[in-house]
Amino acid sequence: MSNSSSVANYASPLAGTFTFPGTALTVHRLGYGAMQLTGPGIYGPPKDPEAALAVLREAVAAGVNHIDTSDFYGPHITNQLIKQALHPYPAGLVIVTKLGARRPADKSWKPAISREELTAAVHDNLRNLGLDALDIVNYRSMGAIHGPKDGPIGEQVTVLADLQREGLIRHVGLSNVTKSQVAEAQAITPIVCVQNHYNLTHRDDDALVDDLARQGIAYVPFFPLGGFTPLQSSTLTAVAERLGVQPMQVALAWLLHRSPNILLIPGTSSIAHLRENLAAGRLELSTETLAELDGIGGSKTA
Ligand SMILES: NC(=O)c1ccc[n+]([C@@H]2O[C@H](COP(=O)([O-])OP(=O)(O)OC[C@H]3O[C@@H](n4cnc5c(N)ncnc54)[C@H](OP(=O)(O)O)[C@@H]3O)[C@@H](O)[C@H]2O)c1
Repeated sequence: MSNSSSVANYASPLAGTFTFPGTALTVHRLGYGAMQLTGPGIYGPPKDPEAALAVLREAVAAGVNHIDTSDFYGPHITNQLIKQALHPYPAGLVIVTKLGARRPADKSWKPAISREELTAAVHDNLRNLGLDALDIVNYRSMGAIHGPKDGPIGEQVTVLADLQREGLIRHVGLSNVTKSQVAEAQAITPIVCVQNHYNLTHRDDDALVDDLARQGIAYVPFFPLGGFTPLQSSTLTAVAERLGVQPMQVALAWLLHRSPNILLIPGTSSIAHLRENLAAGRLELSTETLAELDGIGGSKTA
């Protein structure tokens, strides 16, 4: 790990802090993912926009300073809700967005990776969030929808690096990528975070988590609670019952223990779930409990 990143601190709020490498951006390890704030299928407005605004305000009031979003959520809706709830943004709030897809009217997810599309997406994010520059932009590879697929991404990362030189993007990250794609991108511009599918039961990225930890790069799991298919495991339920907490809290605490470069962005449209998720930052798991939980997904650590 780089000296700038700190390890889990279960006594401190929201699980301690992490500084993105080579940046002045420090966030709590427990953040918030805003994708769940749209209508069904991550399309259109939410049923209750006031409730969505309240979740965002509650997150920031509770100390969250890392919000994950994209202008293709809605599309545009999530960013517009973030702006309406939180603009002018409090000092220190880091909003991380992503580019690489578009949402046609049939609600599908299609790649949008030409120079023109990526540039337009940066301007959409800036306008809908009400910002002059974006703190961190992830290039979201669409190789396979929920899993990475090897193949060149240099052309797209070069566009982001050009927009970075123009001052519209401060730092670049990647999403849904393989180890070799990370290396390809690093030859073009420094990479500060990687956002891939990972959780207690889906551990294809075990070796990548450790590799990025050695480089001080943040690993930000998407679907930390299982996403559209909530995590279910009898071991998880048994551990939660024994500790007197909720299974989803144990799943988040396991991720926080897994590696100090893991930052969490659990998604929820509910204030009650938000509070539960943030409280997971104070849940310390014993070595024995961690071993029991490791057995669920089968460790593939390097
Ligand atoms: N880079 C990518 O390709 C990518 C892909 C997917 C997501 N993401 C990002 O990652 C973030 C997290 O992923 P996600 O939101 O898809 O999945 P997630 O965090 O794994 O799970 C969200 C689901 O869990 C439920 N939930 C949340 N907290 C809960 C709790 N305490 N107890 C029970 N259920 C709970 C939510 O429902 P309620 O609303 O009812 O709480 C929602 O259905 C997203 O918000 C988004 O920012 C990125």
